[in-house]
Amino acid sequence: MDMIDPFGRTITYLRVSVTDRCDFRCTYCMAENMSFLPKNDLLSLEELDRLCTVFIEKGVRKLRLTGGEPLVRKNIMSLVRQLSRHLKSGALEELTLTTNGSQLSRFAAELADCGVNRINVSLDTLNAEKFHAVTRWGRIDKVMEGIDAAQAAGLKVKLNVVALKDFNEAELPEMIIWAHSRGMDLTIIETMPMGEIDADRSDQYLPLSLLRASLERQFALTDIPHKTGGPARYVHVAETGGKLGFITPMTHNFCESCNRIRLTCTGTLYMCLGREDAADLREKLRASEGNELVADAVDEAISRKPKGHDFVIDRRTNRPSVSRHMSVTGG
Ligand code: GTP
Ligand code: 5AD
Ligand code: SF4
Repeated sequence: MDMIDPFGRTITYLRVSVTDRCDFRCTYCMAENMSFLPKNDLLSLEELDRLCTVFIEKGVRKLRLTGGEPLVRKNIMSLVRQLSRHLKSGALEELTLTTNGSQLSRFAAELADCGVNRINVSLDTLNAEKFHAVTRWGRIDKVMEGIDAAQAAGLKVKLNVVALKDFNEAELPEMIIWAHSRGMDLTIIETMPMGEIDADRSDQYLPLSLLRASLERQFALTDIPHKTGGPARYVHVAETGGKLGFITPMTHNFCESCNRIRLTCTGTLYMCLGREDAADLREKLRASEGNELVADAVDEAISRKPKGHDFVIDRRTNRPSVSRHMSVTGG
């Protein structure tokens, strides 16, 4: 039975945050001192596989592993390998992941071997010092090695850049030219008010409507219907011949076409990235060997999927719209 929510949207895309931990501490994503989900509450990789399989049986066609940083989860490749059977059977159209790239040089070849065709790599600047400043703990040369390894393994790479006022705003044209010259698409993302960070989000927030106008002074951008199943709207850049995507949860709400749900590493299902409401699937999973209890809990959860989020970033509000960090639900 397909999963159809109260607004008639069919759910075909599952995002799984396999760990909320990360080897970076990006300033817009995390505080420097983070408390993570208790290790005792983690689902095993076998349990994650079982849950994903239930969702695939219920109509999920695209599955993305996220985090935190998915590649820091111990033994993660065994989960990817397990899940790849659904690609072989044709049940799943796409198995992919979003990564910060730090561990990619180790895993790229094996990911490709498992049938992963395409990955998204987060990269907010090309400047080594700025990269260290924004990630607090990261080293850009490791990420560049990762991107090289991914391309060498035949993976298509898309770059995710969070637009940050006064940080990477001026550098974005150069990043677009660089990405496209290497055959990578690039999407620019508006920062979202999720979880307490050390900075003030209104200092970081850059509306993409403004950014697009400024890019159009330099590039000829044409809207194109290209779709990847995610929320980005794409343009073709005449000067580079590449694709540029805009993800605009703040200035243009795309919730009406939402096709996705999110599972955390503790088995909590979030029906919306921007809402607190969730369903606990772990208890149902562990209560019986069969999957009926989980499947019923999923149906009940989908019947509660909200119409959308109402993220707000302004000086007066000055608190996150949802209390959990992006790394819990994986974007
Ligand atoms: P593809 O389109 O398959 O390449 O991926 P994607 O854009 O769906 O996934 P990715 O993990 O690269 O996410 C890019 C950004 O989009 C992240 O910052 C996500 O938080 C954001 N995003 C994805 N889905 C949603 C959504 O439903 N709502 C909001 N507000 N943001 C989303
Ligand atoms: N707002 C927008 N994007 C964020 N990401 C992490 N935290 C936030 C936030 N608060 C991005 C990462 C990664 C993607 C999964 O989400 O940079 O590209
Ligand atoms: Fe880690 Fe990604 Fe968050 Fe940066 S944005 S801290 S890489 S989860």
